[in-house]
Amino acid sequence: MRAIGKRLWMATLAAVLALAAAGCGSPASNGAGQGDANSGEPIVIKFSHVTTPDSPKGQAAEKFKELAEQKTNGRVKVEVFPSGQLYGDKEELEALQAGNVQMIAPSVTKLVGLNPAFQIVDMPFLFNSREAVLKFWDGELGQKLMKSLEPHGILGLAMWENGFKQFTNSKRPLKRPEDFKGLKFRTQAGKVLEAQFKALGAGAATIPFNETYVALQQGTVDGQENTFNNIDTQRYAEVQKYLTVSNHGRLDYVVLVNKSFWEGLPEDIRKALEEALKEATEFERQLAYELDQKSFENLKKAGMEVYELTEEDKEAFRKALEPVYAEFADVIGKEFIDGARALK
Ligand code: LMR
Repeated sequence: MRAIGKRLWMATLAAVLALAAAGCGSPASNGAGQGDANSGEPIVIKFSHVTTPDSPKGQAAEKFKELAEQKTNGRVKVEVFPSGQLYGDKEELEALQAGNVQMIAPSVTKLVGLNPAFQIVDMPFLFNSREAVLKFWDGELGQKLMKSLEPHGILGLAMWENGFKQFTNSKRPLKRPEDFKGLKFRTQAGKVLEAQFKALGAGAATIPFNETYVALQQGTVDGQENTFNNIDTQRYAEVQKYLTVSNHGRLDYVVLVNKSFWEGLPEDIRKALEEALKEATEFERQLAYELDQKSFENLKKAGMEVYELTEEDKEAFRKALEPVYAEFADVIGKEFIDGARALK
């Protein structure tokens, strides 16, 4: 109890300090009024995200800051707020739309409220490989999904990688679909994930990322699904004994900016920022892959009991999860599902 109390207290303190530093509570704007090319004041970009500073997203946000400030000779100042200090899952998208922050990089599935097709990343065993995922987002279909955000006042500028999702839980090894019966899992967002666990006979609850450790510790849920790196950097091994290597879904990010802020920038600044983002994206993708592998080793060292699904196990899961395709193929769209599946 004392550990939980301390964690909550620290989180609250961090949030209060971050909100004060970010000047929140001031009237919403699209941010374009903060400094401009002629006033001599730097243009401020607040970049809010929910993972730790040492995660790939955290390090890439810092890399973007460094490059953006360098390439604009200090005319742009980027302030990075990690670990949900400023906004959690639910609030960060609204904050972006309101102009209280200018940049965020949420997990793709958290955009479900704007376009349910983003849940494609949750369709079980859909993507054949990491390469297929990258091709999807850099290709026509991924770009079409990003474009669908524009009417909501958001531009999708890049895809940042995290990795394939794995299952963890505190009760027992999960080797076959029937092992999930009666357990309850934390999900990020959306109905596809709920349906996935339902098809396995398990319950699901959407819980914000920065509240998940405590939910696992207190037993509000028995397990969750995430990348090796998120499991590692969130220290879930402290509260989860069993890890199943399943690679059943994806967790990646879209780097989003407030559209009117971005389009209101002087052209030379916008060009410099686009270059900075391109370089930060290359850095992020390389790093994400390396760190995810490293985190897998860390989790073994931390004492998690690991089970890797065999091809035969995976076949059993594919079969058990067929109802998810029956229910959601139309919601997501045949074009996206067939297109993703065809990539190698
Ligand atoms: C999660 O909620 O599990 C992830 O989306 C967190 C993140 O941003 O990686």
